[in-house]
Amino acid sequence: MHADFHPSQRAEWAQGQPISRLMARALEDPELISLAAGFVDNQTLPVEPVRQAMDGLCSDVRAARAALQYGTTAGYPPLREWIRERSQQRDGPEHTVPLERVVITAGSNQLLHLVTESLVDPGDVVLCAAPTYFVYLAMLSGLGVRAVGVASDAEGMIPEALEEQFERLRAEGQLPRVKAIYLVPYFDNPAGVTMPPERRAAVVELAKRWSRFTRIHVIADEAYRELRYQGQDVPGTQTCDAEGDTVVVAGTFSKSFSPGIRVGWGMLPADLVGPVNDQKGNVDFGSPNFNQHLMAKVLELGLFEPHLTALRAGYREKLATILSAAEEHLSCLEGVRWLRPTGGLYVWVCLPPGTATGSDGPLFARAIREGVLYVPGEYCFPGQSRETGQTTLRLSFGVQSCEQIARGVEKLSRAIRDVIGG
Ligand SMILES: Cc1ncc(COP(=O)(O)O)c(C=O)c1O
Repeated sequence: MHADFHPSQRAEWAQGQPISRLMARALEDPELISLAAGFVDNQTLPVEPVRQAMDGLCSDVRAARAALQYGTTAGYPPLREWIRERSQQRDGPEHTVPLERVVITAGSNQLLHLVTESLVDPGDVVLCAAPTYFVYLAMLSGLGVRAVGVASDAEGMIPEALEEQFERLRAEGQLPRVKAIYLVPYFDNPAGVTMPPERRAAVVELAKRWSRFTRIHVIADEAYRELRYQGQDVPGTQTCDAEGDTVVVAGTFSKSFSPGIRVGWGMLPADLVGPVNDQKGNVDFGSPNFNQHLMAKVLELGLFEPHLTALRAGYREKLATILSAAEEHLSCLEGVRWLRPTGGLYVWVCLPPGTATGSDGPLFARAIREGVLYVPGEYCFPGQSRETGQTTLRLSFGVQSCEQIARGVEKLSRAIRDVIGG
């Protein structure tokens, strides 16, 4: 006789994340214009650069064998060196971390997981911009962590709102449980906003000032830094951390090159190098080595920059298309507003009070009947701040062609008009 299966506490905490449901929904109906999934543009995937890099790698038997063998936990040194040098070129040598503080992961998601696991225990608190990357919110609940939302505006997390949350948590005796602040400082997912240098500096300063019981780290998820279509780059978040002990930077080639290769990285404060590599040692003792060698070959052969230039040009056009479609179809709807990003993959839309965007509400169903899918904004808000997100939604412009983007926004406008009666 067998007893019933009881999933672990962790497995239970991990249940019900929205991403798989949304993806399944998009796949069920191929006619649906999905402005939901944050995938990169299929047409721009770098088939030819990868073929060249693969040829280069496999034509040298010794190099190919090294790539086909297990690698090290921290990752392939030439690739880590490239990451270090890129950070040095952009942010100056005084902010560069030594090689041992760079770790390669299977996408930046794995880095976020390893870092968070190294910092938190169940019941701890991570402060997140509200709204924020909903996969990270689901990851936090899977770890038994309480995500606390910090109000954000068109420049990201508001330092005064962060300070208020710190005060509140202190008054409740919860300050010792606060372990990290999570930010997506470039063209964030979902709102597309970029934090200016003063905001970043203020958040890092607050993290340090409130580190009274334990050091509160700032996790800067810089997944979209390369996807700028206008204006000047903003210095990396680690430039605000003179001591180099607070800011963790997560990066990735998923958005700038290929999510299928799934190579990401972290630049870590010295104290986190051991814990993160220990966690990684237990999970996989090194991310797929072949992918790392392949990516390093792409960089060595100079194939990355031209790809990125072409990619930015394509996305620039798509961003212009979605913004002009919004102007054309949404601006006539009373109380409908949206943010105008200069990079990334997302446009954030706010609807009039009372217009619920959730997946069990009338707008979502109406939009699907029209043939368009969006991400309900409430998924992107931590627990108590969920209500704030009930009238918001995220549109992604990476995947669809310009024609489909314009049609999708038009369909959405019909659904909204119908529901708000405008
Ligand atoms: C903000 C953010 N961080 C991390 C990731 C994960 O990317 P990766 O493929 O590097 O794991 C994504 C993917 O959409 C993202 O939007």
